[in-house]
Amino acid sequence: MGMLQDKICVITGGSGSIGLATARLFVEQGAKVALVDLSADALAQAAANLPEQQVLTCVGDVGDPDQTRSFISEAVARWGRIDVLFCNAGNSGVIGGIEDYPDDGLDTVFRVHVRGAFLSCKYALPHMAAGGSVIINSSVAGLGGSPGIYAYCTAKHAQIGLMRSLAKELAGRGIRVNSLHPGPVDNAFQTHIEDSFSPLIGGADATALMNSSIPLGRHGKPEEIAQSALYLASDMSSFTTGSMLVVDGGFTA
Ligand SMILES: NC(=O)c1ccc[n+]([C@@H]2O[C@H](COP(=O)([O-])OP(=O)(O)OC[C@H]3O[C@@H](n4cnc5c(N)ncnc54)[C@H](O)[C@@H]3O)[C@@H](O)[C@H]2O)c1
Repeated sequence: MGMLQDKICVITGGSGSIGLATARLFVEQGAKVALVDLSADALAQAAANLPEQQVLTCVGDVGDPDQTRSFISEAVARWGRIDVLFCNAGNSGVIGGIEDYPDDGLDTVFRVHVRGAFLSCKYALPHMAAGGSVIINSSVAGLGGSPGIYAYCTAKHAQIGLMRSLAKELAGRGIRVNSLHPGPVDNAFQTHIEDSFSPLIGGADATALMNSSIPLGRHGKPEEIAQSALYLASDMSSFTTGSMLVVDGGFTA
């Protein structure tokens, strides 16, 4: 019997690095997963190695209310309800100094992380019951500032406000809401951020600098973030709501 036996889980950003690692682990633990992402091809590739009866793929943009209603409806039409919602879709946005930062630099990033998580919650929650779990994948960038990463950092902080408000509203229904705060993960998303960040620190190797600031001395693996998502998704965290789980090798300690 898996830790998520027969649980219905919606994972946004489901064909990405952390989303897919989480899907694999959830499926191993008995869950059925609806993977939501932008590209049908990437979703098909992601689903290829997962058991057909445990996976559904939905092309959808979390920033769009109609598309969000539609992917939630697809999951409910297939499996009848939602037990776990992992708001994980993300983009990094522009990385650069404040004076050169585009006026609309925040908009595209807020659209995915904040509006996207808000809409996913809004449309999934009517289909969730007591015992349900919502996880918002924020970041260590939600816990502290970082020069040049204005949109991402601000959006990741904003997700905490959403998480805390929802946790209080939904506690009476027995639905838990928490945020996850990964440190730098060894994947393409983070490599792009670090490559873009290097010019802001005089061309230094941002990846090496990052590793030297992480007490465990390395980036995390997507699978390690997935394990923490599993904890928050499962009944192992039955008394945990409104909390922020930091998974960062000691980076913010
Ligand atoms: N990689 C890291 O070091 C790191 C650290 C902390 C937090 N995070 C967070 O983890 C989450 C997953 O990131 P990842 O590292 O797996 O990167 P990733 O790029 O591999 O995954 C993000 C996924 O989100 C999808 N996405 C983007 N916009 C979308 C939209 N509008 N609708 C639906 N899907 C959309 C992308 O297509 C992609 O598949 C993000 O929220 C990110 O901010 C990542």
